[in-house]
Amino acid sequence: MAEKVNHHVQLLEDRLAAHIPGARVVPTALPQCPELSLYLLNADYPQHQLDAQAMQGILNYPAYWAFCWASGQVLARYLLDHPVLVSGKTVLDFGCGSGVAALAARLAGAARVIACDIDPDARLATRCNARLNHLEVEVCGDFSTVTARADLILAADVLYDRENLIWLERFLRRSPRVLVADSRVRNFDYAGYRSVAQVSSGTIPDLEESAEFARVSLYEGQAD
Ligand SMILES: C[S@@+](CC[C@H](N)C(=O)[O-])C[C@H]1O[C@@H](n2cnc3c(N)ncnc32)[C@H](O)[C@@H]1O
Repeated sequence: MAEKVNHHVQLLEDRLAAHIPGARVVPTALPQCPELSLYLLNADYPQHQLDAQAMQGILNYPAYWAFCWASGQVLARYLLDHPVLVSGKTVLDFGCGSGVAALAARLAGAARVIACDIDPDARLATRCNARLNHLEVEVCGDFSTVTARADLILAADVLYDRENLIWLERFLRRSPRVLVADSRVRNFDYAGYRSVAQVSSGTIPDLEESAEFARVSLYEGQAD
């Protein structure tokens, strides 16, 4: 089994290195969630030495799974600090990336966690990260095909793509409770959602993004 995981991590690393010269995939403890480690892009990747061609390669292959996004880390911390939200429950994670929020839900006591991402590499990374943390999560590609009854839906840093805004309403039809973590949408005002917390964080490894993206808001959605 360990051999299979190593092979999958190597696969992820090869894919990343094809787009980011010198990139490696390394187990990384999360500063705000030291209970979890993730296979992420090495912090000392040669960010400042990338030429235009390498930058274009990164844009063509946005390896979201190779980063723990500020919103993901904040949502994971929130679940670990409020296990009552997930304990014994079925939790769906929409746009799981590395799987950070899904893994935190499971660690905090969720009975069943289903992590969804349209990117096959994110699904592979989530499986590898589940194994790294000795946690069990189910993984799927198409959120709309999940038929399991959900007690809670998680969505961290998926609203950068404005096409995903339509999911906010769908989530509330699908689950009595939703937690959204976001730092990209200004004036977040959607029926059924209220702000529950604001926390500072950052992307790991550091992408040197503008400071505004480090301020993460957490919103709770509740179906009527
Ligand atoms: C910025 S990453 C955030 C990953 C993780 N939630 C975190 O916070 O670290 C966004 C992820 O959402 C996925 N995604 C975007 N739109 C999606 C959709 N419509 N359905 C499923 N996954 C989606 C992307 O493939 C990507 O892995």
